Amino acid sequence: MYKLDQPPLLFESSRPGRSTAILPDSDVPDRPLDAILPGAHLASNAPPLPELAELDVVRHYTNLSTLNMAIDANFYPLGSCTMKYNPKRNERLAGLPGFASQHPYQEESTLQGLLQLLFELQEMLAEIAGLHAVSLQPAAGAQGELTALLVAAAYFKDRGDRRTQILIPDSAHGTNPASAHLAGFEAVTIKSDARGLVDLADFRSKLSDETAVFMMTNPNTVGLFDPQIGTIAQLLHERGGLLYLDGANMNAILGIVRPGDMGVDLMHYNPHKTFSGPHGGGGPGAGPIAVRDFLAPFLPAPIVARSDDGTYRLDADRPKSIGRVRSFFGNTGVLFRAYCYIRSQGPDGLKSVAEHAVLNANYLMQLVKDLYPVHYPGRCMHEFVASARSIAREKGIRAMDIAKALIDHNFHAPTVYFPLIVPEAIMIEPTETESRETLEQFARVLRSIVDENPATLHDAPHTTPISRPDEVKATKTPVLKWQPGN
Ligand SMILES: Cc1ncc(COP(=O)(O)O)c(C=O)c1O
Repeated sequence: MYKLDQPPLLFESSRPGRSTAILPDSDVPDRPLDAILPGAHLASNAPPLPELAELDVVRHYTNLSTLNMAIDANFYPLGSCTMKYNPKRNERLAGLPGFASQHPYQEESTLQGLLQLLFELQEMLAEIAGLHAVSLQPAAGAQGELTALLVAAAYFKDRGDRRTQILIPDSAHGTNPASAHLAGFEAVTIKSDARGLVDLADFRSKLSDETAVFMMTNPNTVGLFDPQIGTIAQLLHERGGLLYLDGANMNAILGIVRPGDMGVDLMHYNPHKTFSGPHGGGGPGAGPIAVRDFLAPFLPAPIVARSDDGTYRLDADRPKSIGRVRSFFGNTGVLFRAYCYIRSQGPDGLKSVAEHAVLNANYLMQLVKDLYPVHYPGRCMHEFVASARSIAREKGIRAMDIAKALIDHNFHAPTVYFPLIVPEAIMIEPTETESRETLEQFARVLRSIVDENPATLHDAPHTTPISRPDEVKATKTPVLKWQPGN
């Protein structure tokens, strides 16, 4: 629903002939365009680009940028897909021309610094995972999942072992079953037990010689660490299956426990949740994967290798590789930020990141849990999932109303209605970088919202140009292109 006046699009503000470009006269003799470019390459009509003065364009984009909720301006306790604060130092370092201005087709000898950095990042990610080899190619967590499952599929094929199923807990992120399906497997759901952990009896009953991989998120999406992981790994390995870790929640265990030591065979990282990268969301982020030694031959090629003479190269001579999943070396800009983050924290810093992420989540949970009961009680890890079920029953205020009302109080809305196993779920992940004052302010607002008029909350947010779009329509029939006259 549109409430405030919509700022006009640049196309709508366009006036013929308006511009601020002050260019010297061309000293190249005028030649008809098709004498320079063969006709076949010329569009029959010039694209209808808007014509505007520079000041109009600057104001347009500056105003648009202020409409955005962003981690640099607002507390962003999203939950699950949280992007934590990215220190500006990492942005600056990743933007150094020595890194940012390199061309991927340059000779390897002129890319040594960049390749060294990527090689060292591979080593650091392997060390943090407690695994042996890393591919930096995947462009997002979801693509990391798919890549790792393709690696697993290639491994089983190489052994002549035709396994068809991937087991996935019902609390998993939706990308897990999607990746299993795309990699050619059948996704089999494993129930959660009353504690919110993997239901071991259900796991045992569905584990078979058809099981290729169990995809486990630990800590899981209800914010709990599943201590059964060792038993799960053992049972799985006895049947020849592999244990995959959806490493999206590594922020809670960095430097404290290594996935490989818990029996994990392959995993992905989400640098936007852990190592200060921008969020990929299936796109321009990064989702590096780490695997055990026997899976390394199947990793995407090339990987960055160090030669005996100390120089770095792209090693594409990997006959069992699943091939490329991303052009060139992956999204290096995001990977550089992850490198800077890990190097600037150091081993002790990473551990303290995890400790503070868990402390902040528990502190915030304590401040609100009498009003917003936590569906699976107990100490949480990096995030907690509260339920607005009783508030909805008693006051008619639903999780969505609360999330939207928070926007009017200048907070980014938390994730709601996920995971699906929690009714009226409100998933909150504060991350380690928020101060005690911010957490307390957020808790005060969360508590006060339930006393607001439910009818007013149903229309929240009231302070944004658009209050509640029709979400189904926006997803199913998005209008992505400006049409003249619309
Ligand atoms: C648990 C979990 N798995 C997978 C993903 C998918 O990652 P991405 O959004 O980078 O594709 C996310 C999102 O951050 C997540 O929270």
